[in-house]
Amino acid sequence: MADSFKIDFQAHGALGTGDLIVFVGEDLKPTPAVAKQIGPKAVQLIAKAAAAENFKGKAKSAMVITAPSAVAVDRLVVVGVGGEKDRANVDWAQLGGLISGKVNGKAAVAMLDLPGIEVSADAAADVALGAQLRRYSFDHYKTKKDDAKANTGGKLSFSVADPAAAKKAYKAREGVAAGITIARDLVNEPPNVLGPREFAARAEALTKLGVEVEILDDKAMQKLGMRALLGVGQGSVRGSRVAIMRWNGGKASDKPIAFVGKGVVFDSGGISIKPAQGMEDMKGDMAGAACVVGLMHALASRKAKANVVGAIGLVENMPDGNAQRPGDIVTTLSGQTIEIINTDAEGRLVLADVLWYVQDRFKPKFMIDLATLTGAILVALAQEYAGLFSNNDELAQRITKAGLETGERVWRMPLGPEFDKLIESKFADMKNSGGRHGGSSTAAALLQRFVNDVPWAHLDIAGTAMGSPQNEINKGWSSGWGVRLLDRLVRDHYEG
Ligand code: BES
Ligand code: MN
Ligand code: ZN
Repeated sequence: MADSFKIDFQAHGALGTGDLIVFVGEDLKPTPAVAKQIGPKAVQLIAKAAAAENFKGKAKSAMVITAPSAVAVDRLVVVGVGGEKDRANVDWAQLGGLISGKVNGKAAVAMLDLPGIEVSADAAADVALGAQLRRYSFDHYKTKKDDAKANTGGKLSFSVADPAAAKKAYKAREGVAAGITIARDLVNEPPNVLGPREFAARAEALTKLGVEVEILDDKAMQKLGMRALLGVGQGSVRGSRVAIMRWNGGKASDKPIAFVGKGVVFDSGGISIKPAQGMEDMKGDMAGAACVVGLMHALASRKAKANVVGAIGLVENMPDGNAQRPGDIVTTLSGQTIEIINTDAEGRLVLADVLWYVQDRFKPKFMIDLATLTGAILVALAQEYAGLFSNNDELAQRITKAGLETGERVWRMPLGPEFDKLIESKFADMKNSGGRHGGSSTAAALLQRFVNDVPWAHLDIAGTAMGSPQNEINKGWSSGWGVRLLDRLVRDHYEG
């Protein structure tokens, strides 16, 4: 994230002299108030330029008029709000991203006065959040900076009806933006740099915000009996870790809510090794854990009034003389045994132990896990929806709703005895792979055996968290998926 990019709110009035952003409907007219401020010549100029540029004021479209003679600014950025239907469901963050991508001046003013749409303080804050997220880039490892692409610095001021209210609403979003940035950075970081130990250290950095952090190393996990997790990590020269983060913003008597993340820092597949093509993407197999760290950052920095546990299993899945084999049987922390059929189905082994540990120790109100768990979820849902699996309808509905509200959408997928049957093992209590059919559901069915009937939801984010589709708030490889969704869930249902 460009540290030098500043966001700010001001009362309607000042236009500035840099970039000026105004909104028009399909009639190409701004609101009367904006028209009055920029003057009739500028309104005419917009209509004329629109005709020349074939700009129709459609939603998600914009036109830039450079050095406009009619108004004393460097560039006039005209953004369309579209027709009635578009105006009924604006994605404010995406709109902010669009604006942020269009301005290139040192100082820009966006007049958040939209024809036919009320802009609440919350909406304005979401616009600002989207503007901030758009500026993310990950270029620490580029020794030559591309100046042309460096749309980083500058200041973007939103002129709104009630700047104090918008500022207040944005204050909470700043922590969310920072949390998303942390999650994106973790996912983008190369696997040689970010091993389990280094990842755990990044989780530990949350202590600065008042989060309590505990780290379990190999020895501690051996003592506990987390043999499923340790089995995955045993082929790596780098030790495994579990990081437990606790934010106690609620009443002492409140049961916590819990988030669990898959943190495979690199997934080679192990002895069941993956094909070379695209294997580099498996540095992102810790996106679930990255989301949990980003979420804890967001919640702590906005001092969420809730008791929250975040727990992440950090391992590297490598082939080696000491690596786990197909045919091995491991005893999990819960006491249940798992036959390893495919060492590439490792995420569920990691989660099995962490989920059991969290429900046993913290007795949470619910657990939600996030994991880049299966390629099959990409086959089913492509990259726009995460797979949602749950043993609790209320929790599933709340997550679904938060998904629609934040644009991080989920689609519920089935669990049930049919899938359980597919993971029956000849030799152990279950096997770690049910084969190709229903691959995401059999993986989830295994996880369900480790939640001990606690309300639980599993989000399979293999499609949404990395190599993600580009949009106005995400131009990078990692999206930071889930931070906004879960922050919203907590905000709307679990704070006081
Ligand atoms: N990390 C992968 C899943 C994945 C695939 C994430 C593509 C992101 C993009 C997971 O550990 C895995 O390898 N799953 C196997 C399971 C199979 C062996 C039962 C898969 O999906 O093929
Ligand atoms: Mn795998
Ligand atoms: Zn994996």
